[in-house]
Amino acid sequence: MKKLLIGSLLVTFTAIPAIAATAFSDGKDAIEYRQNAFQLIRHNTGDIGDMLQGKVKFDQARLQRRVDALVGLSTLPWEGFTVAGANQASGDAKAEIWTDNADFLSKAEKLQTAAKALQAAAQTADQAKIKAAFMDFRGNCKACHEKYKAD
Ligand code: HEC
Repeated sequence: MKKLLIGSLLVTFTAIPAIAATAFSDGKDAIEYRQNAFQLIRHNTGDIGDMLQGKVKFDQARLQRRVDALVGLSTLPWEGFTVAGANQASGDAKAEIWTDNADFLSKAEKLQTAAKALQAAAQTADQAKIKAAFMDFRGNCKACHEKYKAD
């Protein structure tokens, strides 16, 4: 039993070097990671939208928490597009991501810059400024999805 366990641990460890530079075991794992990151982005973005539209009560502390999360979250999905096999087995990621990768990455960069600008706007607690920065941030989703996301 013990021997078997050690044997399987060895297999696990020897499999690691090939992908040591990333947190992913294979392309499928990377796809799951980026999709989960997008879901977290969606939840945090949606809640801010609801607050700014008055669907839920505006709460400055809650807004700040969402915006702070988005600054980190918006840096996450992109690594999930870089590993071998990450271009397969996903219905939503279009081939153009890899054939026009510089443009894709510049759109990813813009989202991160817009998240920081939104954070700066949130710190002023001025709703007009927050709204403008949010619209700008939100525009990045569509700009990228139109070209690089399948549905
Ligand atoms: C630079 C490109 C880019 C930007 C910017 C971007 N997305 Fe996406 N998004 C994608 C791609 C590509 C997929 C498909 C990923 C896949 O299926 O592997 C995706 C998928 C998603 C998904 C589905 C995830 C799942 O469970 O399959 C959601 C939700 C999402 N994005 C929300 C957003 C929101 C909200 C924003 C803006 C705040 C945003 N995205 C900005 C490229 C982008």
